[in-house]
Amino acid sequence: MSAYLEEYQWSQTKPESFWKAQSEKIDWFESPKTILAKDENGIERWFPDGQLNTAWLALDYHCEQGRGDHIALIYDSPVTLTKRKYTYNQLRDQVAKVAGMLAENGVAKGDRVVIYMPMIPEAAMAMLACARLGAIHSVVFGGFAPNELAVRIEDAEPKVVMTASCGIEIAKIIPYKPLIDKAIMDSRWKPEKVFVFQRKEELAELSHERDVDWQEAVDKAKPHACVPVQSTDPLYILYTSGTTGKPKGVVRDNGGHAVAMKYSMKSIYNIEQDDVFWAASDVGWVVGHSYIVYAPLIHGCTTILFEGKPVRTPDPGAFWRVCNEYNVTALFSAPTAFRAIKKEDPDALLLEKYDLSKLKTIFMAGERLDPPTLEWVLEKTSKPVIDHWWQTETGWAIASNPTGIEMMEVKPGSATKPVPGYDVVVLNEVGEEVPANQQGFVALKRPLPPGTLPTVWRNHDRFETGYLSQFDGYYVSGDGGYIDEDGYLFIMGRIDDVINVAGHRLSTGEMEEIVGAHPAVAECAVIGIHDDLKGQLPLGLVVLKDGVKLDELALEGELVGKVRTEIGAVACFKHALVVDRLPKTRSGKILRRIIRQIADGEAYTVPSTIDDPSSLSEIERVLNH
Ligand code: COA
Ligand code: AMP
Repeated sequence: MSAYLEEYQWSQTKPESFWKAQSEKIDWFESPKTILAKDENGIERWFPDGQLNTAWLALDYHCEQGRGDHIALIYDSPVTLTKRKYTYNQLRDQVAKVAGMLAENGVAKGDRVVIYMPMIPEAAMAMLACARLGAIHSVVFGGFAPNELAVRIEDAEPKVVMTASCGIEIAKIIPYKPLIDKAIMDSRWKPEKVFVFQRKEELAELSHERDVDWQEAVDKAKPHACVPVQSTDPLYILYTSGTTGKPKGVVRDNGGHAVAMKYSMKSIYNIEQDDVFWAASDVGWVVGHSYIVYAPLIHGCTTILFEGKPVRTPDPGAFWRVCNEYNVTALFSAPTAFRAIKKEDPDALLLEKYDLSKLKTIFMAGERLDPPTLEWVLEKTSKPVIDHWWQTETGWAIASNPTGIEMMEVKPGSATKPVPGYDVVVLNEVGEEVPANQQGFVALKRPLPPGTLPTVWRNHDRFETGYLSQFDGYYVSGDGGYIDEDGYLFIMGRIDDVINVAGHRLSTGEMEEIVGAHPAVAECAVIGIHDDLKGQLPLGLVVLKDGVKLDELALEGELVGKVRTEIGAVACFKHALVVDRLPKTRSGKILRRIIRQIADGEAYTVPSTIDDPSSLSEIERVLNH
């Protein structure tokens, strides 16, 4: 039997024995006696009576083991021309002081802390400081506008907010403080304090009574020890796009998460403690939570926090430069990042300047790895390129080539096989498993493994209705796909209103709410259409109210501006076209899938339930125009 099959079968036939063995690889304050039990909502929970602290596992534990001088974190910032290294001792000491600052300002176990920060080491310190106190952090991606931040502040009700004076994008500085002030003004919930880390590129005005200068407060603070928490206590809430305008607060617990993070570093990424792991992502996304901060540190290796982009900081050789300079063992990013490099340096000429001999593997996730990108990276780097599929909700890969257990054959377009712990099935509309190669709803049989979400923050009903109630005993991923005759999983895309733009997860439903609120708009549809660089881009189609006459270009400008103000630049909403009517079923459901197929030039079948077939020619006319 293959090593993968043996491990996979153990995880499926004796999940408690399998996860007990994995749990023994982390340093609990109180080892769990119960491995799996159900909570008050009937949801399976891992290690419920165990006690631990995630910051302890990520920092103090390694210092105690005599590895305090090992490099924990490398900060590389081409946008500020800064490079800095922190040993485990140094990072632990800094995090203990930031935790002290929070505690002295009233933050305690269970309190929420919203973190809105650029990619600087203080962002990771803020997260770990919360973990140290048992406080629950909620990091909000810097590309989101104040309105999105306000929604998250209202939902999480944070005691304090942590931020920096600015973020730095390609050739532009983004002052964060005015965004924070606006979000707090618009939110019904008011945090008591706002800690601002001043960056010399743009200082913030600390004019409000609640504003605190981060560095001054940290300098005065006493280091705080790790507070023991229950395995099932939340470590963080991370909001992600769903089908409506209101984002979902994915809850992550401490114990299951720590065990899953530790397990994944070896089994999926094949990383040892002396290796250097680089997830080229952002701490605002789940990839950043799991693989910039928690997993590499819990594993005791070196992580890289990169404040730059794959291109234009300063050139498309940035990824290769960082891999060379720090002897990166495994690089993880989204396919869109490599498409950006390929666009600007198609022959990968810059690659020749650098030595990538230490780089063992390149991992990709966040969106489908299209075969041309896979082939380009393979050909240019001669490294194994591993596609793996996961979601904010799961926190770690559901399907992957398990490189630390057994390197399997790669099939282009497939994320390979289910990771041990996950029972992946493809179901039809009535919840029956479909035969090999037939597409359907990709679902996970419960119990989900450790690390996956147990609920949606303060809205358990949304967890039940959004994920669990469609098929009894299964979690529905929201993705469609199929499993082939060899058991390889192919994810074909979302079957709901979620799209992926440059590896960023966004809700077209939310964009529709904003576009539809315009006084001239009677109804609208926002769909994700194919884009060679970003994978998908949103496109709005609007029907005007009867009698409304206006300049369509001016309307487009207004709608684009509105989405940018309310969601943020990251939405990349650039086009809104006026149509006479939208194709619908007789029951009034907009046929978004067909609109997308027309926009992408794909063949489509007209459903028998269509209300007015001529509405399709209208869409073709406008899109071809
Ligand atoms: N703070 C503020 N603004 C941000 C931001 C942040 N953290 N991140 C992105 N934005 C802004 C950008 O500046 C841009 O603004 P503009 O419309 O004024 O130009 C807009 O949001 C769109 O950003 P993006 O879609 O990222 O486009 P880009 O041209 O700046 O970069 C890529 C394109 C492909 C290089 C970039 O998206 C990338 O590196 N993607 C990898 C994605 C990734 O890491 N995903 C995480 C999962 S692994
Ligand atoms: P996020 O929650 O931002 O990580 O986005 C999760 C979604 O991204 C998934 O539901 C998929 O639609 C998509 N996704 C992530 N990884 C992959 C992958 N390897 N292949 C295909 N789609 C992916």
